[in-house]
Amino acid sequence: MTSLAEYLAQLDQLEKQALEQFQRCQTPEEVEQARVQFMGAKRGLVRQMQQRLKEIPGPEKPQAGKRFNQLKQTLQQALEQAQSRVAAKATPKATRPQRARTAGELPPPFDPTAVPPEAQLRLGRLHPITQTMQRMQEVMARLGFQVADGPEVEDPWHNFEALNIPPSHPARDPLDNFYLSVARLTGTGEPDTSGPELLLRSQTSTVQIRVMERQRPPVRVIALGRVYRPDTADATHFPMFHQMEGLYVAPGVTMAQLKTVLKLFASMFFGPQVQVRFRPSFFPFTEPSVEVDMTWKDGWIEMGGAGMVDPHVLQAVGYDPEQVTGFAFGLGVERICMRQFGIDDIRLLYRNDIRFLEQF
Ligand code: DAH
Repeated sequence: MTSLAEYLAQLDQLEKQALEQFQRCQTPEEVEQARVQFMGAKRGLVRQMQQRLKEIPGPEKPQAGKRFNQLKQTLQQALEQAQSRVAAKATPKATRPQRARTAGELPPPFDPTAVPPEAQLRLGRLHPITQTMQRMQEVMARLGFQVADGPEVEDPWHNFEALNIPPSHPARDPLDNFYLSVARLTGTGEPDTSGPELLLRSQTSTVQIRVMERQRPPVRVIALGRVYRPDTADATHFPMFHQMEGLYVAPGVTMAQLKTVLKLFASMFFGPQVQVRFRPSFFPFTEPSVEVDMTWKDGWIEMGGAGMVDPHVLQAVGYDPEQVTGFAFGLGVERICMRQFGIDDIRLLYRNDIRFLEQF
């Protein structure tokens, strides 16, 4: 026979010992050892104390049983706490195997951090082209240029005519553009092809026209976006790419200002040591026209075209070339991006390979 007092003292002692042991566990293996030692179904110390309930004199049994159940519950909780504590440390919570619940048992409290690995959110990042465009935009904003926008599906007026590119011009060749054949059905069910042909814009210069058509001078804007040309993809060409267009029209704008703006842009973007050079060129919408190069390693690389806005363009949008002059430029975003990040093949940018994109 064991007296009640003795039995209760032993339970207190066991409780203290078990709680301390669970506390000390650092790994899932240690917790498992402690579980077997105390809560093991056959030879665990708790089980042994349960068997010894028999030795308590009858009238005192209920009190002993009550305390025993309390102990068992406390230790069960401590065990579960220890299990989750070491699991959180060792592996992602999600991979922790869940003990099967017995009937009537409540599910464990909701843990918002316990996401299965396959559904865990990964922090994304901006595409290198987007990063470059955002920085270009920031730099130009500091020079006082506002951001303008235009559609990627354009009509020949904005892509060509208003830009002084007549129908006979080779730039309008169907083989050099993505024309869209838009067939509308007429009332008779016959296709109607009389409307303007549309095309994917081949340059962001379209936005110059759109801005000037809706705004009186002065105009100081940039437009960043996609352009499309049926080029065969290689390390430096892709049928879709991005440009940054710039336009400044006001009384007395000069080519010296154009060069200053491009030089400031280049040095704010790449650092003060970068040089800018102009080479004579031709574009229908500028006169004079230049190619813009920037220093790159030991040589020069071409960044785009520029020039003084041709008077025909100003007239096309209803500006008076006697009152205002302007400069315009169009820079290739991919070139700047590739230079900035040291990327040597444009196709990498559009393969959607996460191993590549993750590096930026
Ligand atoms: N639109 C030209 C191209 O895509 C680039 C360009 C040249 C833009 C001269 C301009 C400019 O605004 O003035 O090749």
